[in-house]
Amino acid sequence: MSVNESSGERLPGERLSGAEKLRPHAEQAFAGELAALAAQDDRPRPARWKLSPWAVATYLLGGTLPDGTVITPKYVGSRRLVEVAVSTLATDRALLLLGVPGTAKTWVSEHLAAAVSGDSTLLVQGTAGTPEEAIRYGWNYARLLAEGPTRDALVPSPVMRAMRDGGTVRVEELTRIPADVQDSLITILSEKTLPIPELGQEVQAVRGFNLIATANDRDRGVNDLSSALRRRFNTVVLPLPGTAEAEVEIVTRRVDQIGRSLDLPPAPGGIEEIRRVVTVFRELRDGLTGDGRTKVKSPSGTLSTAEAISVVTGGLALSAHFGDGVLRAGDVAAGVLGAVVRDPATDRVVWQEYLETVVREREGWQDFYRACREVSA
Ligand SMILES: Nc1ncnc2c1ncn2[C@@H]1O[C@H](COP(=O)(O)OP(=O)(O)OP(=O)(O)O)[C@@H](O)[C@H]1O
Ligand SMILES: [Mg+2]
Repeated sequence: MSVNESSGERLPGERLSGAEKLRPHAEQAFAGELAALAAQDDRPRPARWKLSPWAVATYLLGGTLPDGTVITPKYVGSRRLVEVAVSTLATDRALLLLGVPGTAKTWVSEHLAAAVSGDSTLLVQGTAGTPEEAIRYGWNYARLLAEGPTRDALVPSPVMRAMRDGGTVRVEELTRIPADVQDSLITILSEKTLPIPELGQEVQAVRGFNLIATANDRDRGVNDLSSALRRRFNTVVLPLPGTAEAEVEIVTRRVDQIGRSLDLPPAPGGIEEIRRVVTVFRELRDGLTGDGRTKVKSPSGTLSTAEAISVVTGGLALSAHFGDGVLRAGDVAAGVLGAVVRDPATDRVVWQEYLETVVREREGWQDFYRACREVSA
Protein backbone atom coordinates (compact mmCIF):
# COMPACT_ATOMS: atom_id res chain seq x y z
CA MET A 1 0.00 0.00 0.00
CA SER A 2 1.62 3.27 -1.05
CA VAL A 3 -0.63 5.69 0.79
CA ASN A 4 -0.36 6.30 4.49
CA GLU A 5 -3.70 4.81 5.53
CA SER A 6 -4.69 7.01 8.41
CA SER A 7 -3.94 10.44 6.92
CA GLY A 8 -4.05 9.74 3.20
CA GLU A 9 -0.76 11.63 2.90
CA ARG A 10 2.06 10.29 0.83
CA LEU A 11 5.37 9.64 2.48
CA PRO A 12 8.48 11.16 0.85
CA GLY A 13 9.61 9.05 -2.09
CA GLU A 14 6.24 7.43 -2.68
CA ARG A 15 5.57 9.44 -5.80
CA LEU A 16 8.53 7.80 -7.50
CA SER A 17 7.76 5.15 -10.07
CA GLY A 18 8.49 1.46 -9.45
CA ALA A 19 11.67 1.71 -11.54
CA GLU A 20 13.14 4.32 -9.17
CA LYS A 21 12.69 2.12 -6.13
CA LEU A 22 15.75 0.26 -4.94
CA ARG A 23 13.70 -2.90 -4.73
CA PRO A 24 10.25 -2.70 -6.29
CA HIS A 25 7.66 -5.22 -5.09
CA ALA A 26 7.12 -8.20 -7.39
CA GLU A 27 3.81 -6.80 -8.65
CA GLN A 28 5.60 -3.55 -9.60
CA ALA A 29 8.71 -5.15 -11.09
CA PHE A 30 6.69 -7.55 -13.23
CA ALA A 31 3.59 -5.42 -13.80
CA GLY A 32 3.89 -5.86 -17.57
CA GLU A 33 4.02 -9.65 -17.42
CA LEU A 34 1.13 -9.79 -14.95
CA ALA A 35 -1.01 -7.53 -17.15
CA ALA A 36 -0.25 -9.62 -20.26
CA LEU A 37 -1.14 -12.81 -18.39
CA ALA A 38 -4.39 -11.32 -17.08
CA ALA A 39 -5.38 -10.15 -20.58
CA GLN A 40 -4.84 -13.54 -22.20
CA ASP A 41 -5.95 -15.78 -19.36
CA ASP A 42 -9.33 -17.27 -20.21
CA ARG A 43 -9.35 -20.03 -17.60
CA PRO A 44 -11.60 -19.85 -14.56
CA ARG A 45 -10.28 -17.77 -11.67
CA PRO A 46 -11.11 -18.53 -8.04
CA ALA A 47 -12.94 -15.69 -6.24
CA ARG A 48 -10.85 -12.48 -6.10
CA TRP A 49 -7.86 -14.06 -7.81
CA LYS A 50 -6.22 -11.79 -10.38
CA LEU A 51 -5.25 -14.81 -12.49
CA SER A 52 -6.27 -18.43 -12.96
CA PRO A 53 -4.15 -21.04 -11.15
CA TRP A 54 -2.70 -22.00 -14.53
CA ALA A 55 -1.60 -18.41 -15.23
CA VAL A 56 -0.13 -18.09 -11.73
CA ALA A 57 1.99 -21.19 -12.36
CA THR A 58 3.05 -19.80 -15.75
CA TYR A 59 4.03 -16.52 -14.09
CA LEU A 60 6.27 -18.43 -11.67
CA LEU A 61 7.77 -20.92 -14.09
CA GLY A 62 7.90 -18.77 -17.22
CA GLY A 63 6.58 -19.44 -20.71
CA THR A 64 5.42 -17.81 -23.92
CA LEU A 65 1.86 -16.52 -24.27
CA PRO A 66 -0.24 -16.97 -27.46
CA ASP A 67 0.54 -13.38 -28.54
CA GLY A 68 4.28 -13.97 -28.15
CA THR A 69 4.75 -12.23 -24.78
CA VAL A 70 7.61 -13.90 -22.95
CA ILE A 71 7.06 -14.58 -19.25
CA THR A 72 10.41 -14.88 -17.48
CA PRO A 73 10.83 -17.76 -15.05
CA LYS A 74 10.92 -16.58 -11.45
CA TYR A 75 11.36 -19.99 -9.87
CA VAL A 76 13.65 -22.53 -11.48
CA GLY A 77 12.63 -25.99 -10.37
CA SER A 78 9.93 -28.62 -10.41
CA ARG A 79 6.68 -27.69 -12.15
CA ARG A 80 4.67 -30.09 -10.01
CA LEU A 81 5.88 -28.42 -6.85
CA VAL A 82 4.68 -25.02 -8.07
CA GLU A 83 1.37 -26.52 -9.17
CA VAL A 84 0.83 -28.03 -5.73
CA ALA A 85 1.63 -24.70 -4.09
CA VAL A 86 -0.74 -22.75 -6.35
CA SER A 87 -3.61 -25.19 -6.08
CA THR A 88 -3.27 -25.26 -2.29
CA LEU A 89 -3.99 -21.53 -2.29
CA ALA A 90 -7.24 -22.22 -4.11
CA THR A 91 -8.40 -24.51 -1.28
CA ASP A 92 -9.26 -23.74 2.33
CA ARG A 93 -5.83 -24.86 3.49
CA ALA A 94 -2.96 -22.47 3.97
CA LEU A 95 0.44 -23.01 2.35
CA LEU A 96 3.66 -23.65 4.26
CA LEU A 97 6.90 -23.38 2.29
CA LEU A 98 9.61 -25.28 4.08
CA GLY A 99 13.29 -25.69 3.23
CA VAL A 100 16.89 -25.02 4.14
CA PRO A 101 18.12 -21.39 3.91
CA GLY A 102 18.33 -19.84 0.47
CA THR A 103 15.93 -22.17 -1.34
CA ALA A 104 13.71 -19.27 -2.50
CA LYS A 105 10.94 -19.68 0.09
CA THR A 106 10.55 -15.95 0.59
CA TRP A 107 10.99 -15.29 -3.13
CA VAL A 108 8.29 -17.79 -4.12
CA SER A 109 5.87 -16.55 -1.47
CA GLU A 110 6.26 -12.96 -2.67
CA HIS A 111 5.63 -13.91 -6.30
CA LEU A 112 2.68 -16.13 -5.41
CA ALA A 113 1.03 -13.31 -3.48
CA ALA A 114 1.72 -10.86 -6.33
CA ALA A 115 0.24 -13.15 -8.97
CA VAL A 116 -2.76 -14.38 -6.97
CA SER A 117 -3.83 -11.16 -5.25
CA GLY A 118 -1.84 -8.45 -7.02
CA ASP A 119 -0.36 -7.43 -3.67
CA SER A 120 2.67 -8.98 -1.97
CA THR A 121 2.94 -6.38 0.79
CA LEU A 122 0.65 -7.90 3.41
CA LEU A 123 3.47 -9.35 5.45
CA VAL A 124 4.13 -10.41 9.02
CA GLN A 125 7.83 -10.93 9.77
CA GLY A 126 8.15 -13.67 12.35
CA THR A 127 10.69 -13.22 15.13
CA ALA A 128 10.99 -14.37 18.73
CA GLY A 129 9.41 -11.04 19.65
CA THR A 130 6.42 -11.08 17.29
CA PRO A 131 3.42 -10.06 19.43
CA GLU A 132 -0.12 -11.30 19.01
CA GLU A 133 -1.11 -7.85 17.71
CA ALA A 134 0.99 -8.47 14.60
CA ILE A 135 -1.30 -11.35 13.73
CA ARG A 136 -4.62 -10.11 15.15
CA TYR A 137 -4.96 -6.35 15.60
CA GLY A 138 -3.66 -3.51 17.70
CA TRP A 139 -4.98 -0.17 18.89
CA ASN A 140 -4.20 3.42 18.10
CA TYR A 141 -3.73 4.43 21.73
CA ALA A 142 -4.52 8.13 21.30
CA ARG A 143 -7.90 7.26 19.80
CA LEU A 144 -8.46 4.43 22.23
CA LEU A 145 -8.04 6.86 25.14
CA ALA A 146 -10.18 9.53 23.51
CA GLU A 147 -12.97 7.37 22.07
CA GLY A 148 -12.72 4.06 23.84
CA PRO A 149 -12.56 0.88 21.78
CA THR A 150 -14.14 1.72 18.44
CA ARG A 151 -13.68 0.33 14.98
CA ASP A 152 -11.70 3.49 14.08
CA ALA A 153 -9.31 3.06 16.97
CA LEU A 154 -8.49 -0.47 15.85
CA VAL A 155 -5.31 -1.00 13.84
CA PRO A 156 -5.77 -4.07 11.67
CA SER A 157 -2.87 -6.50 11.20
CA PRO A 158 -1.89 -7.60 7.70
CA VAL A 159 -3.75 -10.84 8.42
CA MET A 160 -6.94 -8.97 9.26
CA ARG A 161 -6.64 -6.82 6.15
CA ALA A 162 -6.23 -9.88 3.96
CA MET A 163 -9.29 -11.49 5.58
CA ARG A 164 -11.35 -8.33 5.09
CA ASP A 165 -10.33 -7.91 1.44
CA GLY A 166 -10.02 -11.53 0.37
CA GLY A 167 -6.28 -11.27 -0.26
CA THR A 168 -3.11 -13.22 0.39
CA VAL A 169 -1.10 -12.58 3.54
CA ARG A 170 2.45 -13.80 4.07
CA VAL A 171 3.97 -14.89 7.37
CA GLU A 172 7.75 -15.10 7.21
CA GLU A 173 9.70 -17.44 9.48
CA LEU A 174 6.62 -18.87 11.18
CA THR A 175 8.60 -21.19 13.45
CA ARG A 176 10.48 -18.30 15.04
CA ILE A 177 7.22 -16.94 16.44
CA PRO A 178 6.51 -17.99 20.05
CA ALA A 179 4.13 -20.94 20.23
CA ASP A 180 1.28 -19.09 21.97
CA VAL A 181 1.34 -16.35 19.34
CA GLN A 182 1.43 -18.93 16.53
CA ASP A 183 -1.67 -20.48 18.02
CA SER A 184 -3.67 -17.34 17.37
CA LEU A 185 -3.57 -18.45 13.74
CA ILE A 186 -5.54 -21.62 14.48
CA THR A 187 -8.97 -19.96 14.72
CA ILE A 188 -8.15 -17.77 11.75
CA LEU A 189 -7.23 -20.73 9.58
CA SER A 190 -9.88 -23.16 10.73
CA GLU A 191 -12.89 -20.93 11.45
CA LYS A 192 -11.83 -18.22 8.98
CA THR A 193 -12.82 -15.62 11.50
CA LEU A 194 -11.05 -13.17 13.75
CA PRO A 195 -13.06 -12.24 16.84
CA ILE A 196 -12.73 -8.74 18.31
CA PRO A 197 -14.10 -9.23 21.83
CA GLU A 198 -13.57 -5.55 22.76
CA LEU A 199 -16.13 -4.56 20.14
CA GLY A 200 -18.30 -7.64 20.34
CA GLN A 201 -17.61 -8.09 16.64
CA GLU A 202 -15.67 -10.34 14.35
CA VAL A 203 -14.03 -10.13 10.95
CA GLN A 204 -15.09 -13.01 8.75
CA ALA A 205 -12.69 -13.83 5.98
CA VAL A 206 -13.87 -12.94 2.51
CA ARG A 207 -13.47 -15.52 -0.26
CA GLY A 208 -10.03 -15.26 -1.77
CA PHE A 209 -8.33 -15.01 1.62
CA ASN A 210 -5.39 -17.29 2.18
CA LEU A 211 -2.07 -17.38 3.96
CA ILE A 212 1.45 -18.35 2.87
CA ALA A 213 3.95 -19.08 5.61
CA THR A 214 7.65 -19.80 5.26
CA ALA A 215 9.80 -21.71 7.71
CA ASN A 216 13.43 -22.64 7.76
CA ASP A 217 14.46 -26.26 8.23
CA ARG A 218 17.39 -25.13 10.34
CA ASP A 219 15.02 -23.58 12.86
CA ARG A 220 13.37 -26.90 13.55
CA GLY A 221 12.99 -27.27 17.26
CA VAL A 222 13.09 -23.53 17.96
CA ASN A 223 9.33 -23.22 18.13
CA ASP A 224 7.97 -26.25 16.40
CA LEU A 225 4.57 -25.89 14.87
CA SER A 226 1.90 -27.37 17.09
CA SER A 227 0.20 -30.30 15.41
CA ALA A 228 -3.10 -28.40 15.54
CA LEU A 229 -1.58 -25.61 13.48
CA ARG A 230 0.35 -27.89 11.16
CA ARG A 231 -2.89 -29.60 10.16
CA ARG A 232 -4.15 -26.28 8.78
CA PHE A 233 -1.28 -26.16 6.31
CA ASN A 234 -0.29 -27.99 3.18
CA THR A 235 3.48 -28.20 3.31
CA VAL A 236 5.62 -27.82 0.21
CA VAL A 237 9.33 -28.47 0.67
CA LEU A 238 11.58 -26.41 -1.58
CA PRO A 239 14.74 -28.39 -2.38
CA LEU A 240 18.25 -27.23 -3.11
CA PRO A 241 18.92 -27.21 -6.86
CA GLY A 242 19.43 -30.82 -7.96
CA THR A 243 22.24 -30.28 -10.43
CA ALA A 244 25.10 -27.83 -10.82
CA GLU A 245 23.65 -26.78 -14.19
CA ALA A 246 20.31 -25.85 -12.61
CA GLU A 247 22.09 -23.87 -9.92
CA VAL A 248 24.25 -22.05 -12.49
CA GLU A 249 21.09 -21.11 -14.36
CA ILE A 250 19.43 -19.73 -11.21
CA VAL A 251 22.51 -17.71 -10.27
CA THR A 252 22.97 -16.37 -13.82
CA ARG A 253 19.35 -15.30 -14.07
CA ARG A 254 19.18 -13.62 -10.69
CA VAL A 255 22.57 -11.91 -11.00
CA ASP A 256 21.47 -10.53 -14.34
CA GLN A 257 18.23 -9.15 -12.83
CA ILE A 258 19.96 -7.70 -9.77
CA GLY A 259 22.81 -6.28 -11.88
CA ARG A 260 20.34 -4.49 -14.12
CA SER A 261 18.47 -3.02 -11.16
CA LEU A 262 21.80 -1.69 -9.83
CA ASP A 263 22.80 -0.36 -13.27
CA LEU A 264 25.84 -2.61 -13.43
CA PRO A 265 26.95 -3.21 -17.00
CA PRO A 266 26.71 -6.86 -18.09
CA ALA A 267 30.12 -8.46 -17.68
CA PRO A 268 31.41 -10.83 -20.32
CA GLY A 269 33.13 -13.90 -18.96
CA GLY A 270 30.61 -14.04 -16.13
CA ILE A 271 29.41 -17.56 -16.80
CA GLU A 272 32.87 -19.07 -16.20
CA GLU A 273 33.16 -17.50 -12.74
CA ILE A 274 29.55 -18.32 -11.89
CA ARG A 275 30.31 -21.96 -12.71
CA ARG A 276 33.31 -21.94 -10.41
CA VAL A 277 31.51 -20.28 -7.50
CA VAL A 278 28.62 -22.75 -7.82
CA THR A 279 31.05 -25.69 -8.05
CA VAL A 280 32.97 -24.60 -4.95
CA PHE A 281 29.76 -24.05 -2.96
CA ARG A 282 28.23 -27.34 -4.01
CA GLU A 283 31.37 -29.33 -3.24
CA LEU A 284 31.81 -27.76 0.19
CA ARG A 285 28.11 -28.21 0.94
CA ASP A 286 28.08 -31.87 -0.18
CA GLY A 287 31.45 -32.71 1.40
CA LEU A 288 32.47 -34.32 -1.86
CA THR A 289 34.00 -33.14 -5.13
CA GLY A 290 31.81 -33.12 -8.23
CA ASP A 291 33.54 -36.19 -9.67
CA GLY A 292 32.80 -38.08 -6.45
CA ARG A 293 36.48 -38.87 -5.87
CA THR A 294 37.62 -36.61 -3.06
CA LYS A 295 35.98 -36.10 0.31
CA VAL A 296 36.17 -32.53 1.62
CA LYS A 297 35.16 -31.00 4.93
CA SER A 298 32.10 -28.73 5.09
CA PRO A 299 32.35 -25.27 6.67
CA SER A 300 30.05 -24.17 9.51
CA GLY A 301 27.87 -21.70 7.61
CA THR A 302 25.31 -22.28 4.85
CA LEU A 303 26.52 -22.04 1.29
CA SER A 304 23.21 -21.72 -0.49
CA THR A 305 22.28 -20.49 -3.93
CA ALA A 306 21.46 -17.19 -2.26
CA GLU A 307 25.08 -16.80 -1.09
CA ALA A 308 26.36 -17.68 -4.56
CA ILE A 309 24.12 -14.96 -6.01
CA SER A 310 25.50 -12.34 -3.65
CA VAL A 311 29.12 -13.38 -4.19
CA VAL A 312 28.74 -13.03 -7.96
CA THR A 313 26.83 -9.75 -7.68
CA GLY A 314 29.60 -8.38 -5.45
CA GLY A 315 32.16 -9.56 -8.01
CA LEU A 316 30.30 -7.79 -10.80
CA ALA A 317 30.38 -4.51 -8.88
CA LEU A 318 34.12 -4.95 -8.29
CA SER A 319 34.84 -5.64 -11.94
CA ALA A 320 32.62 -2.78 -13.12
CA HIS A 321 34.08 -0.16 -10.80
CA PHE A 322 37.65 -1.29 -10.23
CA GLY A 323 38.39 -3.87 -12.91
CA ASP A 324 38.28 -3.99 -16.68
CA GLY A 325 34.58 -4.84 -16.84
CA VAL A 326 35.24 -8.54 -17.40
CA LEU A 327 34.31 -10.73 -14.45
CA ARG A 328 37.51 -12.50 -13.36
CA ALA A 329 38.56 -14.88 -10.63
CA GLY A 330 40.06 -11.97 -8.67
CA ASP A 331 36.62 -10.31 -8.47
CA VAL A 332 34.87 -13.24 -6.83
CA ALA A 333 37.70 -14.67 -4.68
CA ALA A 334 37.21 -12.33 -1.71
CA GLY A 335 33.46 -12.94 -1.76
CA VAL A 336 33.94 -16.71 -1.80
CA LEU A 337 36.34 -16.50 1.12
CA GLY A 338 33.90 -14.32 3.09
CA ALA A 339 31.04 -16.74 2.44
CA VAL A 340 33.01 -19.85 3.34
CA VAL A 341 34.92 -18.58 6.37
CA ARG A 342 32.25 -17.61 8.90
CA ASP A 343 34.03 -19.00 11.92
CA PRO A 344 37.65 -17.80 11.60
CA ALA A 345 39.08 -20.68 13.64
CA THR A 346 37.55 -23.79 12.10
CA ASP A 347 36.42 -22.62 8.65
CA ARG A 348 39.81 -21.24 7.70
CA VAL A 349 41.34 -24.69 8.07
CA VAL A 350 38.54 -26.24 6.01
CA TRP A 351 39.06 -23.64 3.29
CA GLN A 352 42.84 -23.97 3.16
CA GLU A 353 42.58 -27.71 2.87
CA TYR A 354 40.04 -27.48 0.05
CA LEU A 355 42.13 -24.86 -1.71
CA GLU A 356 45.33 -26.90 -1.60
CA THR A 357 43.90 -30.36 -2.29
CA VAL A 358 41.12 -29.60 -4.78
CA VAL A 359 41.39 -26.14 -6.36
CA ARG A 360 45.14 -26.23 -6.84
CA GLU A 361 45.05 -29.50 -8.77
CA ARG A 362 42.09 -28.64 -10.98
CA GLU A 363 42.83 -28.07 -14.63
CA GLY A 364 42.13 -24.55 -15.87
CA TRP A 365 41.62 -23.22 -12.34
CA GLN A 366 45.11 -21.75 -11.79
CA ASP A 367 43.93 -18.13 -11.96
CA PHE A 368 41.20 -18.93 -9.43
CA TYR A 369 43.70 -20.69 -7.17
CA ARG A 370 46.11 -17.72 -7.27
CA ALA A 371 43.31 -15.21 -6.63
CA CYS A 372 42.08 -17.23 -3.65
CA ARG A 373 45.60 -17.58 -2.27
CA GLU A 374 46.06 -13.84 -2.52
CA VAL A 375 42.97 -13.01 -0.46
CA SER A 376 43.42 -15.92 1.98
CA ALA A 377 46.94 -14.94 3.00
N1 LIG B 1 15.18 -22.48 -7.47
C1 LIG B 1 15.33 -21.16 -7.51
N2 LIG B 1 14.79 -20.44 -8.52
C2 LIG B 1 14.94 -19.09 -8.57
N3 LIG B 1 15.61 -18.37 -7.65
C3 LIG B 1 16.18 -19.03 -6.63
C4 LIG B 1 16.08 -20.45 -6.50
N4 LIG B 1 16.75 -20.82 -5.39
C5 LIG B 1 17.24 -19.70 -4.84
N5 LIG B 1 16.89 -18.61 -5.57
C6 LIG B 1 17.26 -17.22 -5.28
O1 LIG B 1 17.89 -17.19 -4.03
C7 LIG B 1 17.62 -15.95 -3.37
C8 LIG B 1 17.30 -16.20 -1.93
O2 LIG B 1 16.05 -16.76 -1.80
P1 LIG B 1 15.14 -16.49 -0.50
O3 LIG B 1 15.58 -15.32 0.26
O4 LIG B 1 13.74 -16.56 -0.98
O5 LIG B 1 15.51 -17.80 0.33
P2 LIG B 1 14.79 -18.37 1.61
O6 LIG B 1 14.50 -19.79 1.31
O7 LIG B 1 13.67 -17.49 2.03
O8 LIG B 1 15.97 -18.32 2.65
P3 LIG B 1 15.92 -18.10 4.25
O9 LIG B 1 15.56 -19.44 4.84
O10 LIG B 1 17.33 -17.72 4.56
O11 LIG B 1 14.92 -17.05 4.53
C9 LIG B 1 16.54 -15.26 -4.17
O12 LIG B 1 17.11 -14.17 -4.83
C10 LIG B 1 16.07 -16.29 -5.16
O13 LIG B 1 15.81 -15.70 -6.37
MG1 LIG C 1 13.32 -16.29 3.69
